[in-house]
Amino acid sequence: MDKFRIQGGRPLEGEIAISGAKNSALPALAACLLTSDPVKLTRIPPVRDIRTMEQLLEHAGASIARDAGSMTVQAGKLDRPEAPYELVKTMRASSLVLGPLVARTGRARVSMPGGCAIGARPINLHVSALEQLGATIRQSHGYVEAEAPDGLKGTLVQFDRITVTGTEDVLMAAVLAQGETVIHNAAREPEVQDLAVLLNKMGARIEGAGSSTIRVHGVGRLHGAEHTIIADRIEAGTFLIAGAMTHGDLVIADCVPEHLDALVSKLKQAGAEVRQVRPGALGVRSKGRWRAADITTEEYPGFATDLQAQYLAMMTLAEGISFVTETIFENRFMHTQELARMGANIRVEGRQAIVAGVRELTGAQVLASDLRASASLVLAGLVAQGETIVDRVYHIDRGYEKIEEKLARVGARIERVS
Ligand code: EPU
Repeated sequence: MDKFRIQGGRPLEGEIAISGAKNSALPALAACLLTSDPVKLTRIPPVRDIRTMEQLLEHAGASIARDAGSMTVQAGKLDRPEAPYELVKTMRASSLVLGPLVARTGRARVSMPGGCAIGARPINLHVSALEQLGATIRQSHGYVEAEAPDGLKGTLVQFDRITVTGTEDVLMAAVLAQGETVIHNAAREPEVQDLAVLLNKMGARIEGAGSSTIRVHGVGRLHGAEHTIIADRIEAGTFLIAGAMTHGDLVIADCVPEHLDALVSKLKQAGAEVRQVRPGALGVRSKGRWRAADITTEEYPGFATDLQAQYLAMMTLAEGISFVTETIFENRFMHTQELARMGANIRVEGRQAIVAGVRELTGAQVLASDLRASASLVLAGLVAQGETIVDRVYHIDRGYEKIEEKLARVGARIERVS
């Protein structure tokens, strides 16, 4: 199993280019199931979750042609509209194929995702929204089976709580439903907006994506299109924190700065200097010890839960005490125990971590528990005294494109060992 070996203490200097967003590429690939025409997607990040989604599409009957930097998916005939357990168990976002499969073929069979390291992560909200659109849903033998032989019907969908992939799933179902669908309490994440842009290019009629009310006028069919995926704001945020923590002088290029407003404002509060150096590029610098600054994770445009672990790693070295409150997932503090092994002083009480800043971390052998937790351990390793070994980096490979190569190019001493 691969590990990262990191020697801490090197400032990061230079420029890092950001890849396409994993969480935008995943629904975009699922959306290809909605038409029999080819859809060409550019800036798909070559990460493991994307490979899993490709396998799901191929399993259902789609063919995929890969080119340097782009991918063309053609879902001509979908003989097997299902997502098997073997694939779903490695990636919860597999439930994204439920909406498009039932909309396109009138039936879908998708394995239920189990719990995972960060929380229970049920899909009840996806299921009840599809029922409101007229699908009949049965759950048996670990699978969700949806049927809508006469097609879906537009309606009012009111989400009880905000769900990102739930909103995306329903959006993909509603584009082919008869009549109008109005989604209330929709997720406002940039990835939802990016999906709507793609669907509209394919002939859908969606208004309001990016706000909490989305209106969809159903159409009879969708056609092929070409689309470039937006920049990964979580990858960009991870590197911004790395630049601040290592006292470097780093430029994060090819990103969308306004998607990072909540993080940038916290980094500035903590004492880092962050500025837009040119369109689509943020520079980060810091000197001396940074200050503690509290965060509470929220849905977009609030502070992203996917950056909580990385920011918490930074706070372990801050001057003062910070409160890190996690409101999205119930169990997203696994990294705190590993950070404690490196000398961090953290107490977790329910949904809050209380972090008392220490003067230094020391390198240790640590274990990655999930994607973003692994990133936080890499960041801690970059500033710890001596050597850090991060084990189980397959978690990080799920969502970051060659993170060790990108970091090494700007001065980090990090290598992959098996
Ligand atoms: N929830 C339910 N029922 C549902 C759906 C969600 O109770 O049917 C709960 C969840 O358990 C959670 C909350 O609602 O407590 C919000 O979950 P959401 O559905 O928004 O999360 P998701 O769509 O499964 C996406 C990202 C996650 C990111 C979250 C929150 C993708 C593929 N995944 O997950 O990304 O943390 O939104 O922003 O878009 C990651 O990339 O590391 C990652 C975990």
